[in-house]
Amino acid sequence: MTLRLGLLGAARITPAALIYAAEAVPEVALQAVAARDPPRAMAFAADHGIPHVANDYAALVERDDIDAVYIALPASHHLLWVERALDAGKAVLCEKPLSGNAPALRALLARRAQRPGDPLLMEAMHYRYHPLWGRVQALSDAGTLGALKALTMHFAVPHIPAGDIRRRFATAGGALLDLGIYGVHMFRSLLGDPLTVQHAKAVVLEDAVDEQFEGVMTHPAFPGLTATVTASMAPDTPLAAWFEIEGTEGRLRVDNPVAPQLGHELRLERAGETLRESVDPTPSYCYQLQAFADAVKTGQRPPTDGQDALATATVLDALYAAAGLAPRPAYPA
Ligand SMILES: NC(=O)c1ccc[n+]([C@@H]2O[C@H](COP(=O)([O-])OP(=O)(O)OC[C@H]3O[C@@H](n4cnc5c(N)ncnc54)[C@H](OP(=O)(O)O)[C@@H]3O)[C@@H](O)[C@H]2O)c1
Repeated sequence: MTLRLGLLGAARITPAALIYAAEAVPEVALQAVAARDPPRAMAFAADHGIPHVANDYAALVERDDIDAVYIALPASHHLLWVERALDAGKAVLCEKPLSGNAPALRALLARRAQRPGDPLLMEAMHYRYHPLWGRVQALSDAGTLGALKALTMHFAVPHIPAGDIRRRFATAGGALLDLGIYGVHMFRSLLGDPLTVQHAKAVVLEDAVDEQFEGVMTHPAFPGLTATVTASMAPDTPLAAWFEIEGTEGRLRVDNPVAPQLGHELRLERAGETLRESVDPTPSYCYQLQAFADAVKTGQRPPTDGQDALATATVLDALYAAAGLAPRPAYPA
């Protein structure tokens, strides 16, 4: 059965995260797109061979000829359109972060729990579906590294221009929410919940947006372990994404766990030897879209469903609070 998708927003990420990925997932058909500005949506549809354009987001989610939507809007706009789409009976793949803050997502999930048979909701935490992460999990679980002592994730993306959604509080901007979210999710993926925030600090722009963030967490089931996330969108930081696990028996470093398709390396140092490997250059977005299509078809919860996103958002809120910052907005002003 074909899964007919509608796209909310003619976003910059959509070609990479969805349109090219759809070429590798034959059961997905791109059916329609909507943007705030209909001529922009028309141009986007023409560029990418999308057959239909809806007048606005509301018209898109109500279309009878789509089964699911992909939401690539500012984080401050996600929940509004998630709920409108679910109300219209559409499954939802929503960009990360699913919500600007945890309480708003908790309230939405509580409302949806009253509706048995609600359509599927999945947060687009794409790295989680790539075999590279499967390999990291397997090495961590197999005891290869001994007892886990420290996890570290660093993600820095410079050149985010002024005015970008990531640089404004009203659109739920901030380095932690945009970039550090991956580290928090990776820690949760390996350790489970709950992560406990120990301390955090941020370099803050005038609009209460964290341009740089550092947070340290622990976990009650792993005494002595620290999990440290650093995220930066400072113009002078080099572009970098890496994840490291230090154990009593060895160390694992993964360069580029977030977008393995752009080149990655997994380096295991153990017993005086260094093993280097790479896993699979297929984009994480292809695995993500396949997982979404499979979950819609089977009705099985994907690992990055709404409850999973809520657990991540809870840690992110606690990190912001520890740095003396307010939670981000989860709805448009
Ligand atoms: N998975 C990944 O690897 C990845 C990478 C980058 C971004 N993302 C996520 O994808 C989402 C979109 O990111 P992006 O970089 O693609 O963003 P973007 O292109 O700057 O904006 C996305 C869309 O949001 C709407 N928009 C922009 N500014 C707005 C405003 N001030 N108020 C209301 N709507 C506004 C626009 O919709 P219209 O087209 O309708 O005008 C725009 O196309 C974010 O949640 C981000 O975290 C994910």
